[in-house]
Amino acid sequence: MNRFSEVTPRKGTRSVKWDLVKQMYEDEEVLPMWVADMDFQAPEAIVQAVQNRVEHGIFGYTWPDDKVKAEIKDWLHTRHQWSIESPWITYSPGVIPSLHMIIQSLTDIADHVLIQTPVYPPFYSVVRNHGRHIVKNQLQYENGEYTIDFEDFEKKIKDHNVSMFILCNPHNPVGRVWTKDELNKMLEICLKHDVTIVSDEIHADLIYKDHKHIPIASLSEDAAKQTITCLSPTKTFNLAGLQASYVVTPDAEKRKRMDKQFQNQGMMMLNTLGLTALEAAYEHGEEWLEELLDTLQQNRDYVEKRIHEETDKINVIRAEGTYLLWLDCRGLQMSHEEIKTFMKEQAKVGLNDGASFGEEGEGFMRINIAAPFSIVEDGVSRILQAVHTLK
Ligand SMILES: Cc1ncc(COP(=O)(O)O)c(C=O)c1O
Repeated sequence: MNRFSEVTPRKGTRSVKWDLVKQMYEDEEVLPMWVADMDFQAPEAIVQAVQNRVEHGIFGYTWPDDKVKAEIKDWLHTRHQWSIESPWITYSPGVIPSLHMIIQSLTDIADHVLIQTPVYPPFYSVVRNHGRHIVKNQLQYENGEYTIDFEDFEKKIKDHNVSMFILCNPHNPVGRVWTKDELNKMLEICLKHDVTIVSDEIHADLIYKDHKHIPIASLSEDAAKQTITCLSPTKTFNLAGLQASYVVTPDAEKRKRMDKQFQNQGMMMLNTLGLTALEAAYEHGEEWLEELLDTLQQNRDYVEKRIHEETDKINVIRAEGTYLLWLDCRGLQMSHEEIKTFMKEQAKVGLNDGASFGEEGEGFMRINIAAPFSIVEDGVSRILQAVHTLK
């Protein structure tokens, strides 16, 4: 038993993933493998740092001093070979709030914003909620792999006079970790048409063997000026409920406009425990993260191998990063609604609805494999048993 195989019950902790099962899937028996957090305890060093802070007993307004920015700089440099400067950092309670702030401050009403679909559902609402328009560069899906249609990428930018592009790297839900070549091609087109790049890199630390995360802003000085990068230790270290993240904006003009928006909305402060956790994560979390990555890699390989060995009705798209696997369920020969019902009622697993990522996700489901092996094994067995009962 190690810290990644031990099951820590989460029911009754107000966990979105575990305590909303009945509400989401109408059946308490459904095994939750949906929302993107992990069923692992955070590193001991983080738990300890938060406990120490709690012991103090006073939770007044908190100020993130230069030391926290130094930790962030070190982390980005060590893990991603990206050198940033302290003034480029703006704190935020989360990547989603940041995206809302960025859209409002750096685009105008009725502007067009490009996204690559299927994609994380809030990308749609952060654009639409503020009266901007979505333009889709649909990812190409061929032979079980997702790639970018660059011709369409540029055409959509030109045809719709796109002013902003929201990149998801690594990509949720298809699991791609965009290569240097792909990033350079996107960058070149965005520079040519002066499209601001907003890069959501919340999954940056969760990368499998043989792949490398490259922050698009790190490609060149021009890339840095064109890009706003949203980051957080919350996915990496399972801290989503503590709400601590940050935005890196090298261009002073963009940063000024964005920071003003944060200020206007009263969002310039991190919560005390989130800040404590962020600092401890970046200071002491590396060894734990390496172990986590080994565990996730084993889970990913297991899910792929077992499903592919036992059925040709579901194709597991190979994830290069993230702990979210994208399942092509079209081989089940069911309508999308039937697939959802099948997973919920026959398999009794709680997956994310593929169509919530865009219409390109019809026939697909997303499974979260960031759990002790016994839970992952149970989930896969449930799916396969249900598949085997089909004629
Ligand atoms: C791509 C992506 N961005 C942002 C988020 C959420 O970020 P936050 O909790 O910091 O708002 C998620 C969570 O799943 C995600 O997958």
